[in-house]
Amino acid sequence: MSTDRPDQPPAVDAPVDGKPRTWPLEDNLSTLGAMRDTARDGGGPKRIADQHAKGKLTARERLELLLDEGSFEEFDMLKAGRGGHLGGETEHLGDGVITGHGTIQGREVFLFSQDFTVVGGSLGAAHSEKISKVMDHAVRVGAPVIGLNDSGGARIQEGVDALAAYGQIFNRNVMASGVIPQISCIMGPCAGGAVYSPSMTDFTFMVEDSSYMFVTGPNVVKTIIHQDISFDDLGGAAVHAAKSGVAHFTAPNDVLCLRDVRRLINYLPSNNQQKPPILDLRDPPDRTDPALDYLVPTNPNQPYDMKVLIHSVLDGAEFFEVHAQWARNLIVGFGRLGGETIGLIANQPAALAGVLDSNASTKGARFVRFCDAFNIPLVCLVDVPGFMPGPEQEHGGIIRHGAKLLYAFVEATVPRITVIVRKAYGGAYIVMNSKHIGADLNYAWPTAEIAVMGPRGAAEVIYRREIESAADPAAALLEKESQYRKTFANPFLAAKCGYIDDVIFPRDTRGRLIRSLQFLEGKETVRPRRKHGNIPL
Ligand code: HXC
Repeated sequence: MSTDRPDQPPAVDAPVDGKPRTWPLEDNLSTLGAMRDTARDGGGPKRIADQHAKGKLTARERLELLLDEGSFEEFDMLKAGRGGHLGGETEHLGDGVITGHGTIQGREVFLFSQDFTVVGGSLGAAHSEKISKVMDHAVRVGAPVIGLNDSGGARIQEGVDALAAYGQIFNRNVMASGVIPQISCIMGPCAGGAVYSPSMTDFTFMVEDSSYMFVTGPNVVKTIIHQDISFDDLGGAAVHAAKSGVAHFTAPNDVLCLRDVRRLINYLPSNNQQKPPILDLRDPPDRTDPALDYLVPTNPNQPYDMKVLIHSVLDGAEFFEVHAQWARNLIVGFGRLGGETIGLIANQPAALAGVLDSNASTKGARFVRFCDAFNIPLVCLVDVPGFMPGPEQEHGGIIRHGAKLLYAFVEATVPRITVIVRKAYGGAYIVMNSKHIGADLNYAWPTAEIAVMGPRGAAEVIYRREIESAADPAAALLEKESQYRKTFANPFLAAKCGYIDDVIFPRDTRGRLIRSLQFLEGKETVRPRRKHGNIPL
């Protein structure tokens, strides 16, 4: 049987009229080269220069910096937009987003990087299909997805198709939540739909002075509520890192932002079926720190910096803080103990005396849930005088927000260890990973004070009549306070009840934590079947 197929070009090396025939390979090769060059040029030299003039890198430069050298493999470079409904030049190769996969410290990640030089990085149908494709791959193979966002939101020319396109991404954000880590970097002005997808991912980075996030920009604010406000004041990195809590991390520029993403990835597993990578920082597990015996001041009302303890216990004193600028009264972040990633939650006596308020509760709850979803053990360092009192907090819903933290801890099945350093009062004691809500191991320093409330408040309530009728009420209050302190402000009552597994010397904290984590390694918890719980949002 003849294999001749008249409708197919002859094979490349089959001679025609005695000469090697290369058509159409040569043509196609040069077409491919030209198409790739066009795609690589994005919005052209002028817009690239504008991007650089704003202190921003291009979408491709960012990918190069983020990934291990030479590891990027691109998909859909030649995919073109559909054009809009308004005419004009709307078809661009790549459609304003670069997508593909590569490695960070040798571990696979999937990425998209929006190109602001092409129609403002705005999102139309093809752009969204490209992002959806890498997200689908990431979920299928179980690898993190990282989005570098620099986008004017829904592409106006594509009308409702652009809105539908956002829906496709939102669906995938939710389906991937708790399955693979999702990380967003905001590296330019992001408006409308461009902020909702990042806010459904696990971590959001923002670059100072060149990135903005808002649902509606300053112009719309001016039109609708007649208020003049700058980009920075409405949705700059400082605002979202310190006030709204939308940004988990900020960096002074693109380069440092991408470096921090690489650092974060090193703490995380690739998916929810794996454990985080182990990294030996050559820090002896049994290292003691005698200075810790003197960390807690003699005056119980004097603040100290909880970060001293955090840096002292963690491998190599390395702590990757999350939400460092928001709700500083609670510290959350990643570190390593004996090489293993842990999620650390600690009250900060140096900020608002370490009290739990609405923002701290929300911050803690989200972090606990992330760690639980991704097999990261939780270590909780406690010095908490209670929940923040007052109408501002009550009316702002501290009951609802505090309940989130409580819910998140109770729900968590990863290994959970607590060290009570000083105060652990009332509801806040229970919420901060106490034995009563399922912590595996609870230690206390000899300086711990575990009680229903602090000595002053307690004395005022239970001895009010005696104090009021005393010849010297101030002296009587002091005496009752001291009596209460002797009875309750220590860890020994709780230890006698078995609510504290051991009262430990502060210097030994690191060793105890590492040994505890080792034996909790195989922990398994069975939960009843359900569709999902109903966390108080
Ligand atoms: C089409 C857009 C665009 C968009 C920007 N461009 N946003 N094109 N659709 N959404 C284009 C501009 O026309 C311009 O094209 C180029 O991108 C650069 O934009 P500039 O305005 O010149 O840049 P800059 O001054 O830096 O301002 C950036 C910006 C601004 C703040 C993002 O462009 C802006 O306000 N855009 C609109 C933002 C917005 O409201 N988006 C819709 C959101 S609604 P040329 O050719 O001149 O270079 C939405 C709905 C989804 O997203 C909701 C889901 C829940």
